[in-house]
Amino acid sequence: MAINFNEKKKIFFLTTKNTEYQMKINEYDMLLHTYYGASVGKTDMSYLVREIDRGFSGNPYEGRDKRGISPDTLPFEYSTYGAGDFRVNAAGVILSNGSRTMDLRYKSYSVSEGKKELSGLPYVRGEEDNVQMLEIILEDKTANIEVCLTYGVFEEKDIITRSAMIKNNSDKPCQLTKAASMSMDLLHKKMDLIHFHGRHAMERQVERVQLTHDIHVVGSKRGTSSHHNNPFIILCDHDATENNGECYGFMLVYSGNHAEEIEVDQAGSIRVVSGIGSEGFSWLLNKDESFVTPEIIMAYSGNGLNELSYLYHRIIRENVCPKEFRDVKRPVLINNWEGTYFNFDEKSLFEIVDAGHEAGIEMFVLDDGWFGKRDDDNSGLGDWFVNDRKLPGGITKIAEHADSLGMKFGLWFEPEMVNEDSDLFRTHPDWALCDPDRKPVMGRNQLVLDMSRKEVVDYIFESMAKVIDSAKISYIKWDFNRSMANIYSNALPADRQGEVAHRFMLGTYDLLSRIRKNYPEIMMEGCSGGGGRFDAGILFYSPQIWCSDNSEAINRLKIQKGTGFGYPVSTMGSHVSASPNHQNGREVPFITRAIIAMSGTFGYELDPRKLSDEEKEEIKKEVSLFNRYYDLIQRGRYFRISNEKTEDYFTSWQFVSGDKSESLVSLVVTDVRANPEIPFIKLQGLDPEGEYVIDNIFTSVTNAPEEAGIKSKEEKDKIRYSGRALMNGGLALDPLYGVYPSVQIHLKRL
Ligand code: GLA
Repeated sequence: MAINFNEKKKIFFLTTKNTEYQMKINEYDMLLHTYYGASVGKTDMSYLVREIDRGFSGNPYEGRDKRGISPDTLPFEYSTYGAGDFRVNAAGVILSNGSRTMDLRYKSYSVSEGKKELSGLPYVRGEEDNVQMLEIILEDKTANIEVCLTYGVFEEKDIITRSAMIKNNSDKPCQLTKAASMSMDLLHKKMDLIHFHGRHAMERQVERVQLTHDIHVVGSKRGTSSHHNNPFIILCDHDATENNGECYGFMLVYSGNHAEEIEVDQAGSIRVVSGIGSEGFSWLLNKDESFVTPEIIMAYSGNGLNELSYLYHRIIRENVCPKEFRDVKRPVLINNWEGTYFNFDEKSLFEIVDAGHEAGIEMFVLDDGWFGKRDDDNSGLGDWFVNDRKLPGGITKIAEHADSLGMKFGLWFEPEMVNEDSDLFRTHPDWALCDPDRKPVMGRNQLVLDMSRKEVVDYIFESMAKVIDSAKISYIKWDFNRSMANIYSNALPADRQGEVAHRFMLGTYDLLSRIRKNYPEIMMEGCSGGGGRFDAGILFYSPQIWCSDNSEAINRLKIQKGTGFGYPVSTMGSHVSASPNHQNGREVPFITRAIIAMSGTFGYELDPRKLSDEEKEEIKKEVSLFNRYYDLIQRGRYFRISNEKTEDYFTSWQFVSGDKSESLVSLVVTDVRANPEIPFIKLQGLDPEGEYVIDNIFTSVTNAPEEAGIKSKEEKDKIRYSGRALMNGGLALDPLYGVYPSVQIHLKRL
């Protein structure tokens, strides 16, 4: 049993293979969070909660003589505003009499088997796992409000999920001002925060800061999870490394506005609150209405960051992404965006398909510009019918051509958007989110559709379905190319405008579900100007997301590494693009670009008509190499190898198969040097007793001095390395010279 309740001591134990989570109901029926971390047996961890009078931290009325007991210092399982807890809270409400106090006390609990769905929201699936769920009801008797805290305990996978449902049982309406998915107090901890910030074309950069006595907020008000702050944070020991130390992960399964608030309180404990951001948010609850928060995925590792990442990779790949695409081979694709941008016609697309096919590529994706009046990015969004001038044979003809060559066909949509210059906007100007008394803020000259309205979702679904039904489509790239502003729905009253951003997400999730349900064989790739909506919410519908509009390989090293802290490589859309690169002008050797793009879903984003014969041959080799290592890369365990402190010289990472029989090690020199230190790496995750040989080396090094070229050292292949030697003693490579040199080494256990 993963969930146990000790009636006498009033303790909840949530137990996974290596972790434990405890809550205790105190003498005032307050639900306290007493522990989350490495297994501790069944010890009651509430001894960690010390009752000390801190002064200016008030006491509950019924315990006013015990000055050490204060809502301001107790570790609440779900903290609320107004009743003496002055730290950052998870929930806030305005009652009908204007009162802002919410004071929750324990009411009841229930345990069930299996994982339940979360109404209208993405969630962690559990059909194939041994999952138990716990529901704890808290109530505010005065306000007549109930909060149901829900926990999913994935015992084998060391994962606990949480969400909350707030229900108004009173006859009078109330207004939620904040409804986070969770709060948690980590007692007496001194920790660092790792978060993933960025910008368009430079997403998920790793930033690690020591927490200080203030409230650190990471979040987005852009209507999307955003390029700028991913809804995933890690708290870790000051000295935690990739392979040592305690770390906690908190990942929101949501794609809209969010906030992760971390406060170090007066007594030195840390509170984490995560969920939908409260700025701009409000939600009216009439009698018997409830609000369900998004789910959060929590994980703990006592062995450093690599292990924490592994826990997330496994749960995302196996329990969040649609299982239909988990184990099927995803096709290596060619996308025409960077090859042609808007400048294509039927003839040029046929040529691209032919050239891609010749190079061994398995799917052609037609990007933006095939519909409406869309010759640039100023018009046409919303008009999801084919542009006959560019494509007289429609989508059908180009898809049939790909099919005739044995290639799959994919198509780009940006369903949640509309241009002013479109038939859709001319017919339904009120379908765009827009404050009626103002001119809207424009982004890429487009507006955001009001997805909170069912008729809008219905219309978009039907127009997409018509296109999808017209051709054999295997893949959809689903884009979202601006931040949301003037978030106002013409269909909602004034006191419900704070609901629009979340209702928008519910509408988008509904549309995504309908496409999934009606076209289960179509694989979707999420996208938002690259990785502006790279989150577990989108991954629930599409198993991969275009990682960044920056396709330049050396920048991608950092983007993909940052993304990989929470998300598996099987989710990262990653392509080889032209050199010099269109985003930053950098020139990188073809093989280095391929080695980096292979640590993702792999494809090409260039004009294959411009490739030389040698380059086409090179692509054939790369595609067959990727296909050979497909399982290892997509399903193997991923390790970050290079140490952040030496990262300026090279970046290295590794995949190990589940049975440890093979491993793929990649290394790219980012700062090539004369007379350099030896590129030295310690491998991870191998079978310590196994004997490994280097089975294949793929390298960009062509102009190295004779004695330094890895390729020329064939006798190296003959060495037998024990797994223990590679992990403890490491691997000392020859120096690599030239322009962004790289090497990919395949190891096989004998
Ligand atoms: C976004 C995507 C690109 C491309 C363009 C098309 O920026 O990230 O890959 O699809 O839109 O407009």
